[in-house]
Amino acid sequence: MPNAIITAVSGFVPDQVLSNVDLEKIMDTSDDWIISRTGIKERRVMPPDQAVTRIGTECVQSILSQRDIDPDSIDLVICATCTADYIIPDSANSICSESGLNKAYGFDLNAACSGFVYALHTAAQFIKSGTHQRIIVVGAEKLTSYMNYEDRTTSIIFGDGGGAVLVESSEEEGIGVIDAELRGDGTGREVLRIDAGGSLNPVTQERLDKKAHTVFQDGRQVFKRAVQGMTSSMLEVMKRNELTNDDIRWVVPHQANLRIISAVANQLDFPMERVMVNIDKYANTSAGTIPLCLWEYESQMKKGDGIMLTAFGGGFTWGSLFLRWAY
Ligand code: UT7
Repeated sequence: MPNAIITAVSGFVPDQVLSNVDLEKIMDTSDDWIISRTGIKERRVMPPDQAVTRIGTECVQSILSQRDIDPDSIDLVICATCTADYIIPDSANSICSESGLNKAYGFDLNAACSGFVYALHTAAQFIKSGTHQRIIVVGAEKLTSYMNYEDRTTSIIFGDGGGAVLVESSEEEGIGVIDAELRGDGTGREVLRIDAGGSLNPVTQERLDKKAHTVFQDGRQVFKRAVQGMTSSMLEVMKRNELTNDDIRWVVPHQANLRIISAVANQLDFPMERVMVNIDKYANTSAGTIPLCLWEYESQMKKGDGIMLTAFGGGFTWGSLFLRWAY
């Protein structure tokens, strides 16, 4: 059975910065509160006329040029997102067309903030089965389109951006995606949701006036479950693969809140120096956070390094995936 290895990574964030100080001007909050409660200093905002397709296209084009890859050799693009440009069509197919991937097909995968982990696991199955040779997995979001900036508790944590990885088939042993533990619990929809805009509650003026098309979150409930879910799924993967902390060079956690990340590291007795963190600059970009971390830390990873991805998000969805870096 071939291995599914990551052979390139890219990231994209828009230029516009929305700092905590900017937020102080439009809501009752403070830079100090946001930094101490979340670790976030600023986030990025996509322009009004651009969304997930633009982020994904930038990332795909970067991967193609980095490796000088023939666009026709890409079989599939999976775009992990919960903020696709449109309800129909999906963003992945638009990304394929905009990037000149004439022979690829694509689909979006919505597992909220766990989307990238779910999508990478999915891509690995296609590669390991032998049916696909080259897949690009994108994790990208434009969450600022769904913020209610009158809700200071939720709106301060989200931002726009994303990244992508190239997943290829390889016969080399000991590298690539090794194992994943993915979980879900649909009762979580009560505490993290967007009520309007889907088929159950289509957009009406009344719902728009109530801001029902924006993210609602009971932050405290989500916080507790996030720590539990990320910790337990990581421990499960470690147990199944007889891994100790020493076998993991880097933990790559979803960036929702620095206190969640620290709590998970603390529960596992894992040193923060080996945990990837960039929440201060980009905040919570949902499915975008993990590839954005891989992009920023790429030069620090070495071939064979044990890398543990872990995420928790709306649904609830959660999970951890262990891989060995391939270059
Ligand atoms: O991405 C995947 C899913 N999402 C997450 O994993 C997010 C999980 N949750 C969180 O990160 C945190 O719960 C938040 C950052 C969203 C909120 O932090 P918190 O420490 O849980 O705050 P809280 O909602 O418990 O509020 C504590 C206090 C309240 O005041 P009182 O009632 O104690 O007087 C809030 O009104 O902080 C107040 N508060 C704020 N104050 C200044 C809430 N938001 C703000 C704010 N600025 N932006």
